[in-house]
Order: sequence, then structure tokens, then C-alpha cells
Amino acid sequence: MRPIRRAALAVVVLVGLLVANQALRTSGAAGPIVFTGLAVALLCALLIAWAGRASRRQWIEELRAALRGTPAPHDATALIADVRRHVETLTDGVQAGATTQPWTARRLRRTLAERLHGEGVLVVANREPYLHERAPDGQIVVRHPASGLVSALEPVMRACSGVWIGHGSGTADRQVVDAQDHVAVPPGEDSYVLRRVWLTEEEERGYYYGFANEGLWPLCHNVHTRPVFRREDWDFYRDVNERFAAAACEEADREDPIIFLQDYHFAMAPRQIRERLPRATILSFWHIPWPNVERFGICPWPAEILEGMLGSSILGFHTPSHCNNFLDAVDRFLEARVDRAGNLVVHQGLTTLVRPYPISVEWPNHWALQAPPAEDCRRKVLAELKLPADALLGVGVDRLDYTKGLEERMAAIELLLERRPEFLGRFTFVQLAAPSRTLIGTYRELNEQVTQLVERINARFAQGRWRPIVFLHAHHEPPAIFRYYRAADLCCVSSLHDGMNLVAKEFVSAREDERGVLMLSQFTGAAGELSQALLVNPYDTERTAEAFATALTMSVPEQEARMRAMRQQVAEFNVYRWAGRMIEDAARLREQDRVTQTLENHVDRETPPEPART
Ligand code: F6P
Repeated sequence: MRPIRRAALAVVVLVGLLVANQALRTSGAAGPIVFTGLAVALLCALLIAWAGRASRRQWIEELRAALRGTPAPHDATALIADVRRHVETLTDGVQAGATTQPWTARRLRRTLAERLHGEGVLVVANREPYLHERAPDGQIVVRHPASGLVSALEPVMRACSGVWIGHGSGTADRQVVDAQDHVAVPPGEDSYVLRRVWLTEEEERGYYYGFANEGLWPLCHNVHTRPVFRREDWDFYRDVNERFAAAACEEADREDPIIFLQDYHFAMAPRQIRERLPRATILSFWHIPWPNVERFGICPWPAEILEGMLGSSILGFHTPSHCNNFLDAVDRFLEARVDRAGNLVVHQGLTTLVRPYPISVEWPNHWALQAPPAEDCRRKVLAELKLPADALLGVGVDRLDYTKGLEERMAAIELLLERRPEFLGRFTFVQLAAPSRTLIGTYRELNEQVTQLVERINARFAQGRWRPIVFLHAHHEPPAIFRYYRAADLCCVSSLHDGMNLVAKEFVSAREDERGVLMLSQFTGAAGELSQALLVNPYDTERTAEAFATALTMSVPEQEARMRAMRQQVAEFNVYRWAGRMIEDAARLREQDRVTQTLENHVDRETPPEPART
């Protein structure tokens, strides 16, 4: 085709796209249909335009590469790049047009139906959303684990349905599953299926306690705890990943399922799944920070981990800086093409989209909806603690973990009481601390250290029956936790490093009365969103103590103004939006793959076999 004809065709196509783009912004529900039609028309036009110049097979290769983000060597590069940009603009237009409506469970369900044809989601997460436990009286009871991941993902599964594949770790878990190791959950609602994977003690020790929690966990958090990497833990980690990958593939009822992997427990599973199901759409979300490249290099198997993760179609982190750290690691340890502008990594012919998707909580929160009003919660909690009605109450809700800055928090409370005696006898801080990873020595030692610290501070300031700190080292179910959130004058999150921290967002979601002050560590992902919190550096004991005093003396109008702003933020950027954006991106990738596949099939049908060389 002559350059002038080609240019004219390009102009016509681009003008058409711009017109369509404009139409899309005003077309509402018809948008996706218009978009799909135009995209297909555009691809056909291009196919015709280049047919006389390049071989169709070569052109398909180029188009495919362009769609995946790899530069095309042919002189079609510029126009294809333009087209790609416009197709993306159109998709973004559809998304942007839609964001004027809030994300809800219903909208997420609709998105799944419209964009992914209602395909159910397969979630793989180490922690299961419901544990069946044998109570001392022999009854089987259901327990909700202390896990930010579970609080975020469980409402998504209730909305989407599908299968959650998790480690069966409850003492009565085996008693309630069927022959396929399935049990319908939530109990009594049966919205989705929980598939339990069983691990031996040895496997759990190597994969979960060892590699995941003594190796990767401290590696990814800036907390000065030394990561421990053992060869045998690594072997267990890969094997257990393989077990979960196999379970996910067993649950898939098609060759291109949507599989959503969670967290640092499953770095190897994306590639293991990809090898079994090459056409699967694999989404992975890393719920903890990703360290800088020097720190990541401490791990003895950096390339293997990165290659495992790059089996994903989409790889999500909480923040852009975690994404950049990941891309730096790929640059350093792999032979791969890193396209920072396009958020893409191309490795061994596979393309992975690497993007930030800050996680959140459900809105409205179903536990908050079930909780009594704030005054009732306050009355009940104060009565339980034997405190007077005018007591000032602070709360902390954490797993007992060295990343949470519990010692720093207690030190700030001690300084507050030392410097501001007016709070003596008036301010009580209740720390709910869920036992966690207790087979690991560092966690057991932390328990001893915090217990001793609390005893010392309490002994120092005790007045009659009053103690400044109530340390409740036990598992608490969500209704009890939400009662504390609603009763408290302040909630303190003092993590030394935290991917997001959903306690902060849960506290906000619990405060319909628009009261209560959130003290939030600047080292959490949540601090980037909740700017109306009192942001603190937990290492700075003096300022954190001052922040406690500010929170305890804050006027009601100021509390309301701050809480209202934070509630607006969490309501809009809720967990349905988090999941919805990943699903939208997954749908876009699948559409691209399908167009490529269709064109490829077409060419295979049309192209006569090349004559054999003699
Ligand atoms: O925050 C990281 C995380 O693994 C979450 O994904 C999970 O909610 C939490 O820690 C609980 O940890 P575990 O599953 O080890 O009890």
C-alpha cells in the first residue's frame, strides 16, 4: 500500500476512534458494545491495509506483539502503537465513565457478568475464611481468623461466588468437608465454595512458618528482623505451591479460568499454573510491601521467585513504590524487558501487567451494620472493663507481630502518662492482640517482651483498681472487635511497616457516628489515603505521645470533620473497587487475547501451507 493511502486510512481510523471515544463518554451501558465493535472494525481495516505489503503471518506476529507491549520490528510500529494507545484510551474511557457510580457488591457482580461473562473466580489464599474448630464441649464452632486478607477478600467472594482454595487448618475442618474437600460458606448462606488443602505438619513448618514467615515476611518489611532462609524450607515452599496450583487447576472447569492468587505464600504458583493451563488469566496480589532491590537480593533464590510470579497475567501491589521495587528486581535479576511506562514485563514470551491496586474493606461493612449503636457499645465495653462513664478509651487491634510496633506504642503511652498527669486514672488503652505464628521463636519472644512491658508500665502508674493498659492476648471475633472500635475515643495503628493495614480502614468503617480519632503510622499503605488521621512516626516516641494527647483532647467538631472525610475516602475506594479494577484489567487482557486468537485462527485457515523446500 502506498504511504499516502496508508496515511489516509490511518487518519480515517483515528478520527473514527476519537468520535467513538466521545460517544463512549456519554453512552453509558452501551459503551462496551460500541467499543468492541469499533476495535474489531479497526483491526479489520488494518489487516486489509497491510495485506499487500507484509505477509499476514508476520503481521499477526507484529500485532500480537504490539498488543502485548513488545515493540514490532516492522515499519507498522508507529501506527500500531497509536492504535494500541487509542484502544487503551477507549477502554479507559469506559472505565472512567463508569466511575461516577460507587462500587458495590452488586456492581462488582455485574462487572463480572458483563466483562467476564459471569465466570466464577478461583481464589487461592493460604488462610481460609472460616475455620471449623472443636470446642471444649465437643461442639463444632466456626471461627473468623484475624486476617486483613480475609476481611478484604471474603466480601468479594460473597459478591462473585466461585471457589476459595485455602489451607484447612481448623481442628474440625476435616469433619465438615465432602469427598472433594469442599464445604459451602458462609455457614448458612452458602454463597461460595471453600476447598480445603491439607498439609502435613512438616509441610506447614517448612512452607508457612519457615520460608513464608521466617524468610519472606521479614525480607519484605523494614523492621530490622533478620530473614532466615533454609534450603529445606524452600523445597517445601515450592512443593506446597505445586499442591495449591494443582488444586486450582482441578477446580477449573475451562481451559481459560480466572485464578486469583493471594500473597507471599504463593510466589511460585503462577508459573506452575501457567504450565498446566497456558490460557488461564492469572491475577496475583502481594498483600505486603515489596522491598528495594538490595534487600530483595538477600533471598538466595531471587530469579526463581521472580520467574514464578511472572507466570501471572496481572501482578498487583498496594503502592506504586512497591511496583517500582518489583520492576527494579526484575531488571536486576532476570533477562526480561521492563516497560515502565506501560507497567509491563515481558519475560520468555509472557507479558505481565504490574500495577498498584490499593486494597480496602467492604462498604458498608456487614459487621458494622450488625453492631449496636456507638453509645450501647461504649456502655457495654466500659462495664466489661469496670471503667466509669467518663473514661477516655483507646484501642489497638493487631495480630501479635513485630511489624505492628506494639512496643513503640506502649512506650508512647508511658511517656504520655509521665508528661501529662491529667490522663492518669482517666485514660485506658485496650490492646486486642491475636496470637499469631506462635511456632516461631521471634513471635513467642515478642509476646514475653510486650507482656513484661505492659506489666512494668501498669505497675508504674497504677492507681487503685485503675491500670493504664489492658492487654488482651487472645483471639477476638469480629462482633467483639467492632464493639471496641465503636466504643473507643481513639484507635492507634503504629506499624513499623505495613503494606496497607486494614484495621485503620475498618475503624473508619465502624464509626457511623463520625466520632473517634485515628492515629496512624506513616509507614502504612493506608497513610497515603487517610490523610485526615493523626499521622505518626512510631519510632518518634515524643511526637507519638503528643499525638495521643491531641487525640484525647480533640474537639467533637474536629473529630467529625476528620472522620467524615476519611469515611468518604473509604466508602469510595472500597474493596469492590479494588477487585473491580483488577477484573476490568483482566477482562481487557482477555479481550486482547481473544482478538489475537481469532485473527491467528483466521490466518491459519486462509494461508496455504508453504511449499516444501527442495
Ligand atoms: O498482612 C499479611 C498477611 O499474611 C495477610 O495476608 C494476612 O491477613 C495476615 O498477614 C495474617 O497472617 P496469617 O495468615 O499468617 O495468620
